Amino acid sequence: GWGRGRGRVVAAVDQGTTGTTVCLLDEQAVVVGRGYTPVRPGFPRPGWVEQDPEQLWRSVVEAVQAALADAGRAPSDLAALGITNQRETTLVWDRRTSTPVYPAIVWQDRRTAVHCERLAADGHGPWVADRSGLVLDPYFSATKLAWILAHDPELRRRAGRGELAAGTVDSWLIWRLTGGATHVTDITNASRTQLLHLATGRWDDDLLGLFEIPDDLLPTVVPSSRVYATTDPAAFLGVRVPIAAAVGDQQAALFAQGCHAPGQAKNTYGTGSFVLVNTGVTVPGPESARAAGLLRTAAYQLDGQPVRYALEGAILSTGSAVAWLRDGLGIVGDVAETAALAASLAGNDGVYFVPALAGLGAPHWDPRARGTLLGLTRGTSRAHLARAVLEGIAYRTRDVVEAMAAAGFAVTELRADGGAARNAWLMQFQADVLGIDVDVPDNIETTALGSAYLAGLATGFFPDLDALSDLRRSADRYRPATSPGQRARGYRRWRSALERSRAWALD
Ligand code: G3P
Repeated sequence: GWGRGRGRVVAAVDQGTTGTTVCLLDEQAVVVGRGYTPVRPGFPRPGWVEQDPEQLWRSVVEAVQAALADAGRAPSDLAALGITNQRETTLVWDRRTSTPVYPAIVWQDRRTAVHCERLAADGHGPWVADRSGLVLDPYFSATKLAWILAHDPELRRRAGRGELAAGTVDSWLIWRLTGGATHVTDITNASRTQLLHLATGRWDDDLLGLFEIPDDLLPTVVPSSRVYATTDPAAFLGVRVPIAAAVGDQQAALFAQGCHAPGQAKNTYGTGSFVLVNTGVTVPGPESARAAGLLRTAAYQLDGQPVRYALEGAILSTGSAVAWLRDGLGIVGDVAETAALAASLAGNDGVYFVPALAGLGAPHWDPRARGTLLGLTRGTSRAHLARAVLEGIAYRTRDVVEAMAAAGFAVTELRADGGAARNAWLMQFQADVLGIDVDVPDNIETTALGSAYLAGLATGFFPDLDALSDLRRSADRYRPATSPGQRARGYRRWRSALERSRAWALD
């Protein structure tokens, strides 16, 4: 290499569903090093998705080491760590030994659908949504945590004796980074558990009661940007580094996309796609969000400042459907090939794919929906399948953008990021389907950037929010090229395909 890099860096640790990415930023907020370690989810039964908590932890240390090597930096050059993570994924571990007592149940896991249906049948849906901001769905942590405690009576007894700790991925990583000294979760991650009272920012006794969760299992809720602790040198590369941010990955992306004002919206195309619109310092009205099928969630909280909120449309399977074309069907060698395959056709020839591989999220909320392919003829080719998957991703985004308009937040420009923001065919089709501009920034790793910005703000490494807002550069802007009539026709067909995907799974 060119020898040692110079100057201290902030490390953004992005622990995602399929891997851990670490980006190192210098004082100009330039990314000077990058590391990536894949993680493998397991699919032990249909609808189940698990991860090994130890693998998640190891992937973080490895990715930090890789990023340091990439930048020619040493662990002592780390000025601060910011953490961002796949949300909702739920872990339980032993407080004394720090060993996990069960695999992490991943956000996409549908095993608690029956529990959710039972609670809904008993009429709990509306008050749970009004209190937590979230609809009753297996997506969220509450029923996952209840499942872990229910499946083994010994675990419930140990929980009752205060021997166990629970948390989302942010809590787990901070626990391990501090050698078990610190048990916290940031407000954005807490707002995804379905155990938090969204308006007060505290764990809610009625929700804890409903899901039968002992409150001493849970971490302390903290802002997204603040020095919570320093790393334990025995656990982390021999150094004491301030842990200065934790934030859900989708909220981190919203922050890094510069969506700091109410009405600004982004969509991150990852394993799933998540459209968030900033709604400012007031919690958006529960009735309109509930009617529209959207989530209300914490967007971020700077230290000593009020919580910012967002409305969210969570689409549970998008990039994972493209990955399925590669890994499940083997019809592409690389996900990027889908752009050329889609472009090789003049139209979709009536082939539609509903990417409900993990049920349907917002605004439909149907955990029993399944992936559905319609309109096949003898002439259907892999190009049609690839195109239908990309179209399905764009149409699901329109579903949630329409819901946002119904809830009083008309999105006039969508800022796009995540891996599939590189897929120019998808981005153009997205603009065509929405009838608004889609804007892609130069750095699409916005989740990592967001946590680095928040960590840098907490430690004074970055001066202020305004300086960070100026950092976003538009790299590509896609403008709608279809007529309103064309848009309406395609969307009508989509809605009819969508209906056919619903209520399919038996258990
Ligand atoms: O809510 C789940 C989300 O946080 C996962 O994000 O990037 O793994 O699709 P991603």
